[in-house]
Amino acid sequence: MRKLFVLFLTLGIVLMASAVMAGTAPGSGIGGTPHDLSSLGGGVLWGDTAEQAGLNRICIYCHAPHHTIKPADAATVGVNYVPLWNHALTTTTSWTMYSNGSEEPSDANHASYAEANAVEPGGISKLCLSCHDATVATNAYGTAQTCPTSKGAADKTFVATNCNVIGYNGDLTNHHPIGFDYAAAQASDDEIEPTTSSLGAYTIGQLLWYNGSVGADSMECSTCHDVHNSKNTGEKFLWTTEAQSGLCLACHLGKNQ
Ligand code: HEC
Ligand code: HEC
Ligand code: HEC
Ligand code: HEC
Repeated sequence: MRKLFVLFLTLGIVLMASAVMAGTAPGSGIGGTPHDLSSLGGGVLWGDTAEQAGLNRICIYCHAPHHTIKPADAATVGVNYVPLWNHALTTTTSWTMYSNGSEEPSDANHASYAEANAVEPGGISKLCLSCHDATVATNAYGTAQTCPTSKGAADKTFVATNCNVIGYNGDLTNHHPIGFDYAAAQASDDEIEPTTSSLGAYTIGQLLWYNGSVGADSMECSTCHDVHNSKNTGEKFLWTTEAQSGLCLACHLGKNQ
């Protein structure tokens, strides 16, 4: 009996230690690292107290499923890669690129090609610089939306500024991808969970739907949302909770193995 207790105690300590350690070893996922700005992560002091008192999400500082920065808007400030980007972009417009000093060799063999030719960081680097160049706060995330007090127009359709408007004017560029064959995407992307993995009480496969152009395995709105709020355990009709970005991590394997 006592041996059993010691065994459980040891197991408990090991489990607790691995929960705390999760994600800090190289390649073990984002959770717990300096890029986890939740109160459970290494970047805790850089996060947002309101968010931390709530869901403690991980992805939200950089990505959101809806209302993210549109590629067309980001392009106007020279950023051309915005994978569901939810963080305010760097305000820097002029960059001084690599220099090795004023006395560099001038002959073609030794002179730096990069120094002479680098113009500005690419869009992907500007995503990092949005936090790292200290022009924008780390918790400057989410696109500001003014939600009207009146719920809808006279004809009872949503008004354009309603926070629940998704796909206005047919524009789904800044929403999580839907309308594609999930299994096919998974086969070509080694950071996506297989259809047999759990998403709340179901497997992902059970939450794929029919779409005329895709077939029966299409990822759709209802892959994430339970319209009846009946079998889900997450907020906003989500199949599973967004706490610690659990919903995202149900499918995005590589980010928190
Ligand atoms: C600190 C910012 C940050 C956080 C937090 C973050 N990401 Fe990212 N993510 C990025 C950046 C920057 C890119 C583009 C650069 C790259 O892929 O290296 C990216 C790219 C992606 C991509 C597309 C490319 C790929 O690697 O497949 C996916 C999918 C993604 N992130 C999912 C997630 C999920 C899910 C979470 C939460 C568990 C998350 N990210 C948390 C910054 C972040
Ligand atoms: C949402 C803001 C944000 C974005 C976007 C972001 N970072 Fe960070 N990053 C942080 C914070 C906060 C820290 C922790 C800083 C500290 O504690 O001093 C950090 C730390 C790091 C570290 C140090 C990790 C360690 O173990 O000490 C590296 C490396 C890094 N970031 C690289 C990147 C790269 C590369 C990108 C883009 C691909 C990026 N970051 C995008 C906020 C961000
Ligand atoms: C990848 C999963 C995913 C898909 C697919 C998805 N949603 Fe969402 N949706 C979410 C999450 C997560 C939230 C909560 C966002 C938050 O709180 O920041 C949300 C929130 C919402 C909201 C509340 C308003 C908001 O922006 O928070 C509405 C309305 C909504 N979704 C409708 C839809 C519709 C309609 C579709 C299909 C066109 C869809 N969703 C597809 C994950 C998803
Ligand atoms: C039901 C599974 C599922 C859920 C839940 C889910 N995703 Fe995805 N996500 C996918 C798939 C599949 C793709 C498409 C991957 C591809 O094309 O390679 C994708 C694409 C993305 C991309 C675009 C990457 C690019 O290359 O442009 C980002 C960013 C992303 N997801 C972030 C999130 C975040 C953040 C959440 C949580 C709010 C989330 N996802 C929830 C399955 C999911």
